[in-house]
Amino acid sequence: PYSFVDETFLSMKGRNELEIKHLLWIAADLKERIKKWNETIRPLEGKSVAMIFQKRSTRTRVSTETGVALLGGHSVFLTESDIHLGVSESLADTARVLSGFVDVILARVNVHDDLKTLAKNASVPVVNGLSDIFHPLQILADFLTLQEHYGYLHGLNLAWVGDGNNITHSLMMAAPKVGINLNIATPKGYEPHTDLRKACAEFAEEHGTSVNYTSDPREACAGANVIVTDTWVSMGQETEAQKRLKDFKGYQVNDELVKVAADNWTFLHCLPRKPYEVSDEVFYSDHSLVWQEAENRKWTVMAVIASLVTDLEPEIPVPKW
Ligand code: CP
Repeated sequence: PYSFVDETFLSMKGRNELEIKHLLWIAADLKERIKKWNETIRPLEGKSVAMIFQKRSTRTRVSTETGVALLGGHSVFLTESDIHLGVSESLADTARVLSGFVDVILARVNVHDDLKTLAKNASVPVVNGLSDIFHPLQILADFLTLQEHYGYLHGLNLAWVGDGNNITHSLMMAAPKVGINLNIATPKGYEPHTDLRKACAEFAEEHGTSVNYTSDPREACAGANVIVTDTWVSMGQETEAQKRLKDFKGYQVNDELVKVAADNWTFLHCLPRKPYEVSDEVFYSDHSLVWQEAENRKWTVMAVIASLVTDLEPEIPVPKW
């Protein structure tokens, strides 16, 4: 169950509990051994990663470039203005050509189907660096952060407040499998994808966790250990900004809302953040784990890429989940 060799990493949907935990264990191992003990670990020596970005990025780009370098590998950052991506060369042909040069392709795309095309035609693993449907790398960083903070994942109540977007979908594909209960509050018309709700319900039933949907942020946050939100206007939705700001009224995570949360509540946000969705009081509070969460994007993407192309195994004791 731990082998990712020659596979793709497009979503958490097909990853089981053991695989998710194993990736988190590798990430924790790399963080401890490299950051704390200053060890040199270079499983990616001689290996290259193509990083295709159709959209802007700070965290995904920098965490991957620096993480791959730290493990001895090399990355190439490619935007639509650098290569023939879908313009004078089809995506499928680009995938075939890049497969002759690199060991992994990481891609941030506008449309998830483009990732599927890359994965279908590449002979090397393809990693989702964000699509309109999923952002699996973010969820691994979130779980690592929660594991570090609470010392466990199992039994945490996580409230999602905001848009039913790619982060929500990825949480839904992974949280129930590691024992995290989900309470998802979205305005009407912004609910998560119906098919993914069905899959999430099946994962929850299999793992004895709960998933609830509401349009009331207070209901979702009642007793929550973890409150998570994201921008109300994602990249590419700028023309809908005015409507969205109106539709999300009452969804800001602020001092009033967190009053109903559990005493040990924490706050997560994938970033970048706007003040609409979370007040300064919450975002910069001691309950906010956002900087640790951002840093963990690096250790988790390192774990994913190393697991895809090497047989790297963790050395630290397995965490108590
Ligand atoms: N959270 C996240 O994916 O950040 P970037 O858009 O900066 O990569």
